[in-house]
Amino acid sequence: MNVLMLGAAGGIGSAIRSGLASRYALMRLADIAPLDAAGPGEETVKVDLLDLDGLVAAMAGIDCVVHMAGVPVEPETNAWEQVLPANIVGVHNLFEAARIAGVKRVLFASSHHAAGFHRRETATVETLVPRPDSYYGVSKVFGEAMGRMYADKFGLQVLSLRIGAYRERPSDPRQLAVWVSPRDMVELVRCGIEAPDFGYATVYGVSANTRNFWDNSAVAFLGYEPRDNAEAWAGEVMASSPPEDPAAAPFQGGWYCAKDFVGDPSRVG
Ligand SMILES: NC(=O)c1ccc[n+]([C@@H]2O[C@H](COP(=O)([O-])OP(=O)(O)OC[C@H]3O[C@@H](n4cnc5c(N)ncnc54)[C@H](O)[C@@H]3O)[C@@H](O)[C@H]2O)c1
Repeated sequence: MNVLMLGAAGGIGSAIRSGLASRYALMRLADIAPLDAAGPGEETVKVDLLDLDGLVAAMAGIDCVVHMAGVPVEPETNAWEQVLPANIVGVHNLFEAARIAGVKRVLFASSHHAAGFHRRETATVETLVPRPDSYYGVSKVFGEAMGRMYADKFGLQVLSLRIGAYRERPSDPRQLAVWVSPRDMVELVRCGIEAPDFGYATVYGVSANTRNFWDNSAVAFLGYEPRDNAEAWAGEVMASSPPEDPAAAPFQGGWYCAKDFVGDPSRVG
């Protein structure tokens, strides 16, 4: 198995790099930022998501692409202008390069912010319907849609990972529900790379939190069994946290929903 990881210099990319080191025949690591020197079974390549030809070249001989590159948050200012290049144009280039290069599978780092305006009590099956809470969230809906189209039209296998909050440990009450530990994140990616063939699927990247908003029972074929639980920090987190913003508290996306929110949150059913 030959794997290419885009965004390998980033926070999640670095954890996957070390967590899956030496597991595959080749782990090709790509980023626009500098990367540590290649170890055994690794190659490094500098590539920009805006460079379609560079992406095609980086995907030569690759079976599975793990896409962890791009803008990972809603920027404070000029959000759309900042999200547009890497998360829209770059994500089109990702899938188009995979098609041209004959890649079999792409793991796309989506986000729960693709559906952040769902209320916290909403069942997982309903939250699969997009309800973005930000321009960043819209870019993740775009990536999921692009992946689905490439799966249906071109036969690419695509797994969208709706990552929760990736941290060493949860630090606010909402994260007690949406936290994903580094260990579980690496395991989810491993499952995505190694699962039997499928067409398209969306899975939540979340640990086994007592307070989870989501469950992954519909995608049990992946074999993902998270082991960590944010509840271990619940006492400490609850004791040290102020009440949530009224426009954040009802919704899965938290403060992404509250940012620039107009009106009464009850209008969002
Ligand atoms: N960290 C989280 O809690 C979280 C939650 C939900 C989703 N995600 C998603 O997971 C992915 C990884 O997140 P992260 O926290 O590791 O982010 P990060 O910012 O640490 O890593 C992103 C990497 O992408 C690279 N990159 C940016 N623009 C690029 C371009 N044009 N070409 C090539 N590389 C480029 C950066 O250099 C960086 O190394 C992102 O897509 C993010 O949206 C993260």
